[in-house]
Amino acid sequence: MPHTSHKKRGLPKKRQEVLDDEGWTRVTSSHTTPRAPVPSTSADGSEIVFTWTFDGPQVTKTCGSAIRPMKPLPGTTLQSMQTQYTRIATRWLESEMYHSLKDILTRRILTSEKMTKCVLFGSGSLCGDELHWLDRHESAYYQLAAFKSVVEVIKQAQGERPRCYAQEPYYNTLDTDLLATLEITAVTHPQGFELLDTGSFAYSPAAELEVEYQIMSLSPRIWLHRSLDHLHTKAPSASDKFTKEESDLNLRMTEDFTTHHEHARLPDLPLKNFPFHGSVIWWPAEQQDPS
Ligand SMILES: C[S@@+](CC[C@H](N)C(=O)[O-])C[C@H]1O[C@@H](n2cnc3c(N)ncnc32)[C@H](O)[C@@H]1O
Repeated sequence: MPHTSHKKRGLPKKRQEVLDDEGWTRVTSSHTTPRAPVPSTSADGSEIVFTWTFDGPQVTKTCGSAIRPMKPLPGTTLQSMQTQYTRIATRWLESEMYHSLKDILTRRILTSEKMTKCVLFGSGSLCGDELHWLDRHESAYYQLAAFKSVVEVIKQAQGERPRCYAQEPYYNTLDTDLLATLEITAVTHPQGFELLDTGSFAYSPAAELEVEYQIMSLSPRIWLHRSLDHLHTKAPSASDKFTKEESDLNLRMTEDFTTHHEHARLPDLPLKNFPFHGSVIWWPAEQQDPS
């Protein structure tokens, strides 16, 4: 069984429930708005800008690049990728972890709010030729299958499929084509972040710090990620990429997020390279099962 938090709390002060035009309940949070206009790339366009705010002040960090497609491994075709995806998705759907995730979603999370958008962040390329020190291709397929399975659970629960997107600087044309066969649109930074709101699901497997902070600041309705314990650090170290003020803001934002969210740790799935290592799902505290 997954480890779950059982904190019962009332509606946090700064979150408000509103009814939209179609009669679905939405939750708004004053921490997440307004979004300050920030350029999405550095002045020379070579790097991308991450940004997040909490209670006014804003952090911006420049690093990486929005698009750096990896060349596909020689011999890769769309058909070979589809075969690989089908094989791995079948295994994923048979796993205890999937069944546990589905159970938490349907019993505790998917209640009255309509989910309109799902965004996968940073799966890595599914066929890129740069292996670094580990071959993570299979991990990327597993993560994609997990993302797609959550979309299907949401669709079953509400009778309507949310729109689906994936953002990853390494995606090449074959990656984009495979995603399209699964009705997932590849987007580039910062579009994925701009899609996030209180009617969205975000999945960020093994995300970098900037990606996780930017997602957190946007409060997606459901966030499949990991524990946030590593972000509960008080003092920035000499090697830290954040100033003291930025670290304070990051810590306050993390504390606010964990205070106002429920979470459940999913059972580990012992696969090569651990694509789901330490997965934790987060959702707003006020939406928990009354039982
Ligand atoms: C630590 S790797 C994890 C990759 C993969 N999920 C895994 O488990 O092996 C982080 C990934 O995030 C991607 N990334 C970097 N910036 C991003 C952005 N702005 N949006 C989405 N993904 C990003 C990187 O290219 C990289 O593939």
